[in-house]
Amino acid sequence: MRKNSNPVESAPESNNNINIIHSRILKRLSLAELCLAAVAFFLVTVLFVSRFFYSNFETPLPNSNLNPGSVDWLGSIKVASSPLPSQSFEYETLNVSSSSLSFENNEELEKEVSFLDEGGDGCDIFDGNWVWDETYPLYNSPDCPFMDGGFRCSENSRPNHQYTKWRWQPKHCNLPRFDGEKMLEKLRNKRVVFAGDSISRNQWESLLCLLSSAVSNKSSIYEVNRNPITKHSGYLIFKFDHFNCTVEYYRSPFLVLLGHPPPKSPPNVKYALKVDQMDRTANRWNQADLLILNSGRWWTYEKTLRTGCNFEEGRKMKMNMSVETAYKKSMETVVDWVNTKVNKKKTLVYFRTYSPSHFRGGSWKNGGGCHMETLPELGPLTSNEHSYVKIVSDVLSSKKRSSNLEMLNVTNMSMRRKDGHPSIYNSKGDKNKSPSHIQDCSHWCLPGVPDSWNELLYAIFLKRQLLIRT
Ligand SMILES: *[C@@H]1O[C@H](CO)[C@@H](O)[C@H](O)[C@H]1NC(C)=O
Ligand SMILES: *[C@@H]1O[C@H](CO)[C@@H](O)[C@H](O)[C@H]1NC(C)=O
Ligand SMILES: *[C@@H]1O[C@H](CO)[C@@H](O)[C@H](O)[C@H]1NC(C)=O
Ligand SMILES: *[C@@H]1O[C@H](CO)[C@@H](O)[C@H](O)[C@H]1NC(C)=O
Ligand SMILES: *[C@@H]1O[C@H](CO)[C@@H](O)[C@H](O)[C@H]1NC(C)=O
Ligand SMILES: *[C@@H]1O[C@H](CO)[C@@H](O)[C@H](O)[C@H]1NC(C)=O
Repeated sequence: MRKNSNPVESAPESNNNINIIHSRILKRLSLAELCLAAVAFFLVTVLFVSRFFYSNFETPLPNSNLNPGSVDWLGSIKVASSPLPSQSFEYETLNVSSSSLSFENNEELEKEVSFLDEGGDGCDIFDGNWVWDETYPLYNSPDCPFMDGGFRCSENSRPNHQYTKWRWQPKHCNLPRFDGEKMLEKLRNKRVVFAGDSISRNQWESLLCLLSSAVSNKSSIYEVNRNPITKHSGYLIFKFDHFNCTVEYYRSPFLVLLGHPPPKSPPNVKYALKVDQMDRTANRWNQADLLILNSGRWWTYEKTLRTGCNFEEGRKMKMNMSVETAYKKSMETVVDWVNTKVNKKKTLVYFRTYSPSHFRGGSWKNGGGCHMETLPELGPLTSNEHSYVKIVSDVLSSKKRSSNLEMLNVTNMSMRRKDGHPSIYNSKGDKNKSPSHIQDCSHWCLPGVPDSWNELLYAIFLKRQLLIRT
């Protein structure tokens, strides 16, 4: 197994282009935030006053006869900048569709078809909103032994836990609730493989936690080589013994092959990223039953050309090839590989789209951060097209591709979750954590956003099985 031969294993993120794009987005977002805060403040005030008014006359609030479950999904939110700090307010079924916050009526929600039902097919499950759900999270990090310290935000003293309480709600259908036992039953004698960068590991650990919470005997789940989970591992294979099922992670941030440059290459070339050849470990992914790929965060000038890692195609160095062109070519290589080397009858392949980071006020290395972000973006997203999402969707739609390759389009939904990153709570460390530390605004706390990606994966996986059967 090839050890970590990548030029730079860096702190959270080292990318200029992407950070520039993101800081533009963040500027726009912060304007929207201001509006949101103003609206929230207004609502809170109105609600508080009206509650006071009603309670004086011992009259129930409108809608207060709804059963508790029906208000769950937007439950009570502690508004951080509230004039009454420790007070929590119930939004109940407030209808503020004229503002940027649009909380649908719960009865309408119940009318929505389930994604798994007949007729649920047409629903775009990636188009939706984050809703407050008191029944979340689906697991707690101290109960999950299969998680990096870097994602254990609560255990690393993150003070607010709201980030664990948001559920993804598609606009036009309902998702099934994740059922670890059911998923494990479906995965009996099967292999799930994640290949990609550290955000892949983030999602892989989320799935390990989601599945293992349905297993009482935790010692029946183990790494087959007894290796511990670290960010330096080339690959890790966890077996769920009672189900003869493995959930595996292969570290391959580019998916294509990183190796030595051909002879007679220019002297400044240290590594060659071969955009027309798959990573060496790809021959171990193509036998999987469920394969989740991603690549994107490492396709930056900083992590390639700057470090002497140049692009190679047709066994020749292409010194003039841009990072974007190289990324596009590598995606074509991946799609060709899926078309020709992956068994259509057996393997389902998902390409997870770009996972956005949220550095405000600078990049990861010059003071940028996401510290003290406590709420998602609930209003409409302003323009947020990410060029790498476009490259992936262009390649997927222009190339003839087999029907077993689908996109897990998580970019927009994750874009809303500026509250979901570890920030300074990415290690146990000292008690006096200071926001001036380098912050992790790229990975995600667990439980958190990657759980929702896996819930979507779960829904699509179940749906496909239903469709195959009928
Ligand atoms: C919410 O607003 C919509 C449109 O503005 C309206 O049709 C609906 O009756 C409202 N619902 C409630 C519960 O007030
Ligand atoms: C991804 O999902 C978003 C939200 O539904 C949608 O606007 C966008 O068009 C989708 N992108 C692709 C490439 O399908
Ligand atoms: C366990 O699963 C593997 C595939 O991952 C399969 O080849 C093997 O036959 C299974 N073993 C048993 C005992 O079913
Ligand atoms: C737990 O699982 C391990 C490995 O499969 C097994 O050896 C052990 O007997 C199990 N313990 C219990 C209490 O079932
Ligand atoms: C690369 O670009 C430079 C300047 O833009 C040009 O002079 C050179 O011929 C190009 N080389 C190749 C191999 O295309
Ligand atoms: C989601 O992102 C796409 C680009 O991938 C953009 O065109 C679209 O407007 C976004 N959708 C929403 C609902 O924000």
